[in-house]
Amino acid sequence: MAKLKVAVLISGRGSNLGALIKACAAEGFPAEIRLVLSNRADAAGLEHARRAGIAEGVIAHRDFARREEFDAALDAALLGAGIELVCLAGFMRILGAEFVTRWRDRLVNIHPSLLPAFRGLDTHARALAAGVRIAGCTVHYVRPEMDEGPIIVQAAVPVLPGDDAERLAARVLAAEHRAYPLALRLIAEGRVRVVDERAVIDADGGPAPAILLNPPDGG
Ligand code: GRF
Repeated sequence: MAKLKVAVLISGRGSNLGALIKACAAEGFPAEIRLVLSNRADAAGLEHARRAGIAEGVIAHRDFARREEFDAALDAALLGAGIELVCLAGFMRILGAEFVTRWRDRLVNIHPSLLPAFRGLDTHARALAAGVRIAGCTVHYVRPEMDEGPIIVQAAVPVLPGDDAERLAARVLAAEHRAYPLALRLIAEGRVRVVDERAVIDADGGPAPAILLNPPDGG
């Protein structure tokens, strides 16, 4: 079967991009990254694309007077590359409703919290301040409202004694690097449908993961 043609949009470090590139390199993976775009020329993550020989480019939001013009430039680049699915991976621009609607159910994002909790920025500091015992990440289809949309994959990690935002972020990031490739694979295999604004996943019927209890029940 033809592989799903994917673009990844980044703004910075690009570790999720790196995880997606690695996953796509595995034999038989059903998706291929055709294009990486950044809105910042200094995004370190562009190096991942260069090293992997993936076409990359910079579309700088500063070059456009209006958001719609920036979105249109992105759209043109994506169409030009024959892209079928767009993955936002640390892309720090809000996309306009027109763009999001045009790419509806073909546009996914990863967010470092268990949505719908902690939308927006500084998720780890806010999770710690709220005293949650379980944190995590979410891969979801994008809707015009920020950090909204049908949830495809979530991964949970414990909050541990002595955590600060940095330590928690590192633990969540490791989970992101597993969750995003999984979501991409499920989508590329055609196993995800959106029904009544919920993602329905036609899973394998494999073993359900163990419950993550925190603190652990030692008794
Ligand atoms: C990740 O934590 C992601 O969830 C959030 O921004 C961060 C990007 O990290 N949206 P990286 O650029 O993929 O390393």
